[in-house]
Amino acid sequence: MSKADELKRQAAAKALELVEPGMRLGLGTGSTAVQFVELLGARVAQGLDVIGVATSERTRVQAQSLGIPLADLDDLPELDLTIDGTDEFDPDLRLIKGGGGALLREKIVAAASRRMVVITDASKAVKRLGKFPLPVEINRFGAEATRHLIAREAAAAGSNGPIALRKDAAGQPFVTDGGHYIFDCAFGIIPAPEDLAARLSAVPGVVEHGLFIGYARAVISAGAEGVTIYGSLA
Ligand code: A5P
Repeated sequence: MSKADELKRQAAAKALELVEPGMRLGLGTGSTAVQFVELLGARVAQGLDVIGVATSERTRVQAQSLGIPLADLDDLPELDLTIDGTDEFDPDLRLIKGGGGALLREKIVAAASRRMVVITDASKAVKRLGKFPLPVEINRFGAEATRHLIAREAAAAGSNGPIALRKDAAGQPFVTDGGHYIFDCAFGIIPAPEDLAARLSAVPGVVEHGLFIGYARAVISAGAEGVTIYGSLA
């Protein structure tokens, strides 16, 4: 296992301590969430009784392969705890997510949860959000018009920079689980995350953006010096 994966696993193991029998869990997406789902699967195999809701098809397939009981939000609209990764987090536990393309379902699941706890390696900590290009999920209809409106609204919030349509390995537009496109917005440091979030949400073609503000209750970050908890695990 790579050093980075070892750190992700350490964070995942710490998060697993929060899981109690009978819990309804949101299962995140990405290479850190993969570690959590794997550890959870081992506990389920030993008899732990939980039920999960996956934030992506990838996670659903992994969880199913490990025998983790799954439901969807229509059957289980309220969750106890969501464990997910992040692309960045700042000292106020504001996040940029969506590098893996699952931000819409991740946000829906996080919003349905009483608690969201983020697991990460220490490389994702930033003083100010924006080093990681902000993913924005858009409806395919009128994508170019939506790009213009995103640029206009972002500029009004003090954010400027290239807005690129995400492509897959074959060079085709990346399509999310929900059938949408993603713009990766390389704005650099975001001076006003709340203002930007509100403005992006008001653009009709925007399905969801990757700013997660007010979602994370805690961040479990594993680094060379051990595991650090930001926020509260309670
Ligand atoms: C998926 O859409 C993302 O939000 C991921 O949770 C995020 O990109 C973190 O992924 P890694 O754990 O692979 O860094």
